[in-house]
Amino acid sequence: MISGGRCLSGTVAVRGAKNAVLKHLVACLLAPGRHRISNVPGILDVEIMRRVLAHIGAATRGEDGTVEVEVPDDLVPEAPIHLVRQMRASILVLGALLARCGEARVALPGGDDFGSRPIDMHVGGFESMGARFTLSHGVLLAAAPEGLHGAEVYLEFPSVGATENLLLAGAMARGRTVIGNAAREPEIADLAAFLSKMGARITGAGTSTIEIDGVPRLSPAEHRAVPDRLEAGTYLMAGAITGGEVTVTECLPGHLRMELRKLEEAGCEVAIGEGEVTLRGPRRLRAVDFATLPYPGFHTDMHPQMVALLARAEGTSVMTENIYDARFRYVGELNRMGADITTEGQHVVVRGVAALSGCPVEAWDIRAGAAVVLAGLAAEGITTVAGAHHIDRGYQSLDGGLARLGADLRREAVPG
Ligand code: EPU
Repeated sequence: MISGGRCLSGTVAVRGAKNAVLKHLVACLLAPGRHRISNVPGILDVEIMRRVLAHIGAATRGEDGTVEVEVPDDLVPEAPIHLVRQMRASILVLGALLARCGEARVALPGGDDFGSRPIDMHVGGFESMGARFTLSHGVLLAAAPEGLHGAEVYLEFPSVGATENLLLAGAMARGRTVIGNAAREPEIADLAAFLSKMGARITGAGTSTIEIDGVPRLSPAEHRAVPDRLEAGTYLMAGAITGGEVTVTECLPGHLRMELRKLEEAGCEVAIGEGEVTLRGPRRLRAVDFATLPYPGFHTDMHPQMVALLARAEGTSVMTENIYDARFRYVGELNRMGADITTEGQHVVVRGVAALSGCPVEAWDIRAGAAVVLAGLAAEGITTVAGAHHIDRGYQSLDGGLARLGADLRREAVPG
């Protein structure tokens, strides 16, 4: 429950990136022994990935932002539907299990609120590396009885998950794997950094061509996860929408270039320091157009939050979503709060209104949830956000962080 209208100010530190840590946990499966990942956020998705690892046979122990993973020699090469359904990223075990066990059984994730999200590029890449797939009762059965071999894989689109899955598999495949049109996200470079500590031979991670010379075995390693640019961006946007001044520390501002540029265009003042960013929001933001694109473009996972900001800006903004075919469910929630937003195909037209008014809304997914929370901070009256557990999948206590910045909000358990 958010009582809107407070101007946020202060400093907040971000944690490690969800979308890096989830992949590090999977990477551990490649080497028996004890690994240690630090800067791990206390979020639901990390808990779910730990359950996936437990099912596969790897015990995890976590405290104070550190997770130790104990990987046995023999693994159960399987990710069942009840876990994959809770978190789509579970399919990332496919590459690691194929590499380690020569087989994997992974339930197909099915659709979600972003529209269809196929895994054809993952499967096509593994096929060129020697794996064969069959689908049986909703479970993808993968086998590479003679082990995986290196291959040149050119991705149709720079998919984050496909790049990572192929990186994990290529690390232990026979010979050289080249991933062309690879995703360039900082979290991929961070995964490659961890794999390199484990003994993998990788060049080009973070660029669009990655080369991997497979090695027969890897060893356990320790790694500190890269900071979460999405958490950082969300707090900065909380400053922007309330006309406040927020400093985010322990982040890498270079990972937020496009988002900061658009916030500046919208009238915010941005000051970049060593590992920190300060943003001062104007009295009223102005409209800006933007389009989501793979890194280093504007991140799709910050699009709903940015649209929430523009809902109250002066003028009309046009946003184009290029990563997902349907990520607009939050629009109806913002409109309930008085926003004037329409969608047309992949485009969102945001006609800025002078004020939003608080009301009951729903968090449909992690970022849609963050967007309605931001809108609630700036709205008149009380906004009640149902489905807050979606927000907890990706943010460690977003409500706590915002409260420290001066927001008036509290959490209530709803019976049942
Ligand atoms: N796609 C295909 N075929 C494939 C793979 C992807 O058509 O084989 C399509 C998808 O349907 C989507 C687009 O390609 O339309 C991009 O998907 P990508 O594979 O890049 O995304 P992902 O790996 O499934 C990760 C993040 C998402 C983030 C996207 C894009 C994790 C765990 N998830 O998903 O994060 O939106 O990259 O940057 O890393 C979030 O954190 O809230 C979140 C949804």
